[in-house]
Amino acid sequence: MKLFSSNLNLAIESSCDDFSCSILKKNDSKINIISNVVYSQDFIHGIYGGVVPELASRNHIKSAIPAVNIALSKANIKLKEISLVSVTSGPGLAGSLLVGLMTAKTLSYALKIPITAVNHIEGHIFSPFLNSNIKEVFPFIALVISGGHSHIYIVKSHEDIKLIGKTRDDACGEAFDKISNFLNYGYPGGKIIDELAEKGSINAFNFSMPMEHSGNFDLSFSGLKTQVISEINKLGGPKHLQEETVFDIFACLRETIAKILYKKVMSVCEYTGIKDVSISGGVSANSRIRSIFLESGKLNVFFPEPAYSTDNAAMIGYTGYFKKPVDPIINKEIFYNINAEPSWEL
Ligand SMILES: [Fe+2]
Repeated sequence: MKLFSSNLNLAIESSCDDFSCSILKKNDSKINIISNVVYSQDFIHGIYGGVVPELASRNHIKSAIPAVNIALSKANIKLKEISLVSVTSGPGLAGSLLVGLMTAKTLSYALKIPITAVNHIEGHIFSPFLNSNIKEVFPFIALVISGGHSHIYIVKSHEDIKLIGKTRDDACGEAFDKISNFLNYGYPGGKIIDELAEKGSINAFNFSMPMEHSGNFDLSFSGLKTQVISEINKLGGPKHLQEETVFDIFACLRETIAKILYKKVMSVCEYTGIKDVSISGGVSANSRIRSIFLESGKLNVFFPEPAYSTDNAAMIGYTGYFKKPVDPIINKEIFYNINAEPSWEL
């Protein structure tokens, strides 16, 4: 599909606990990010050990207009210059999605400019190509890993994306969060565990890899989380662990998750014969996951810049250029029906 001809895109992402607004510009076939503003709520949800949906949407209400204003001002662009709005319409938390959607639909309607509704996971899949000289080479395999997703896709084009494997229970980021929370090391667990794992030994514990020989491309992280918790309880529980033991647990957990992901993606690559792999989502920033893929030398692996690993509107704007625009006047019925799709699967 050709890129949408309109060149200045205001994108909004609010599917979980971050509210983000980005301004993008398209020149010929090149898409540039001019600004990308993210209002993080980690400090709000940290005390609960995870995202509280009601708090996330309520805080998005406070962030929405400032995020749009700051993104415009950083880009040195006036609202009237915007010619397209892109917004995440799913999957995600319903209340959170609705705040971003209503902000975007209001802008589209008031400015009389088209809107494109974007799938959040699709945004992640293409995030390694943001602000990058790496061109999309179809087909490629996409691994999306975060607190909410552990999905593997075959991507043949912007219109042809097929799910080939996914977690049957917890996402890998969820496993990091839950273990960190169980040991009282805070939220978000993935980042904390990645840092402290450097001080531990990967040989201290031997955690098995669920679904390793499943014969399909699905994943599972709930069993691994249970193994780790059971090991901690055998050692007397979270309050009785030496700090060194916690570091060893973190190192072994991170190593096991990295190996599970690497082996599963390798099996998809061997099955399909595809060697180009995009790895995205918040957990793609994990240093061991990056190194296990990069050091293998068997695959061409693309990671997003750290700023575009976690949720951001730039990836939504980028993907939005490839979607069919909906005009709020000409396509009134379709426009009115753009809604939150909390369970939208690609
Ligand atoms: Fe995400």
